Amino acid sequence: MPTKSLATQDYQAFADFLQNQCGIVLGDNKQYLVRSRLGPLMEAHHATMADLVREAMRPSGSALKTQVIEAMTTNETFWFRDGYPFELLKNEVLPEFSQPNRRVRIWSAACSTGQEPYSLSISLQEYRRKNPGRLVQGAEILATDLSSQVLEQAQRGEYDALAMARGLSEPRKQFFECLGEGRMRVKPEVRQGITFRQHNLLESYLLLGRFDIIFCRNVLIYFSPENKQKILRQFAAALNPGGYLFLGASESIANLSDDFEMCRYPAGILYRKR
Ligand SMILES: C[S@@+](CC[C@H](N)C(=O)[O-])C[C@H]1O[C@@H](n2cnc3c(N)ncnc32)[C@H](O)[C@@H]1O
Repeated sequence: MPTKSLATQDYQAFADFLQNQCGIVLGDNKQYLVRSRLGPLMEAHHATMADLVREAMRPSGSALKTQVIEAMTTNETFWFRDGYPFELLKNEVLPEFSQPNRRVRIWSAACSTGQEPYSLSISLQEYRRKNPGRLVQGAEILATDLSSQVLEQAQRGEYDALAMARGLSEPRKQFFECLGEGRMRVKPEVRQGITFRQHNLLESYLLLGRFDIIFCRNVLIYFSPENKQKILRQFAAALNPGGYLFLGASESIANLSDDFEMCRYPAGILYRKR
C-alpha cells in the first residue's frame, strides 16, 4: 500500500476539503506538495498519508484538522515586502487620512509571522516623525491570519538572524531590541496599536469593524476566482469611502470586482474603493 501518497479519489476529496475550509486551491498533480507539507505530521502521528487526511476530514472536527490545514498554508513573508506598498502608503495614502481628529484603521489580512503589520507600524512611525502634527491620533492595526501557529510567532515579535536579514535595512533596526545571537524583538512602541486575531478570509468580516486601508498581499493568489470575488466584495464593504486596498505585486482584481478604481503610480498599483 502506498503510504506517502494519496489515491486519486482521496487526493480529490482532500483538495475539495482544503478549498472549502480555507480557500486554497491545490490543483492537479500536487501530490509532492501534500507529501512535503504533511510529512512531519505523518511522522508525528505514525500515520499513512491517507489515514492522516481521512482523520482530518472527519466532520466531527479535531485538532488534527487545524494542524493539517495550517500545514498546507504558505507562510512566506519578509520585512517591507516589495518596498513600494510602504512607500505609497507614506507618500500617497496617509496624507489623505491626516485630519487631526482621525485615527486611521489598517487591516493586515493574512499577516503570517508579523513582518507585514510591524512594517506597517514602522512606516507609520516614520511618517509621523517626518510630518509632525500629522496622524496625532495614531493608528490601529488589526493583524489577522488563518493560522494560529504563525499568529503566536507574530504576537511574540521575536525574530532570528535569518528573518532579520530579509528586507530590513540597518537604520530600521532601531525599532528592535537585541536579544543576542542575532535575535531581535520589536520594541513596544512598534507593537503598540497592533491587535492580533485569528480570522479566516472565507468567513464574515462584520465583527472586524471598518477600515481605511486593507493590506491583503500574497494570499488571494492561492484562491479560486469565485472566492476572490467574494473576498473583494467583503473588502469593499469593510472599507470606509475612499479607502485603499493593497494587493500583492502579482495579484490583480481585473474582471473580479467593480467596487475599486485602479490607482497607478510609477512605483506600483493600488486600489481605491469607489
Ligand atoms: C504568503 S503569506 C503572505 C503574508 C504577507 N501578507 C506577505 O505578503 O508577506 C499567506 C498567508 O495567508 C494565510 N492564509 C491562507 N489562507 C487563509 C485564509 N483563508 N484566511 C486567512 N489567512 C489565510 C496563511 O496562513 C499565510 O500566513
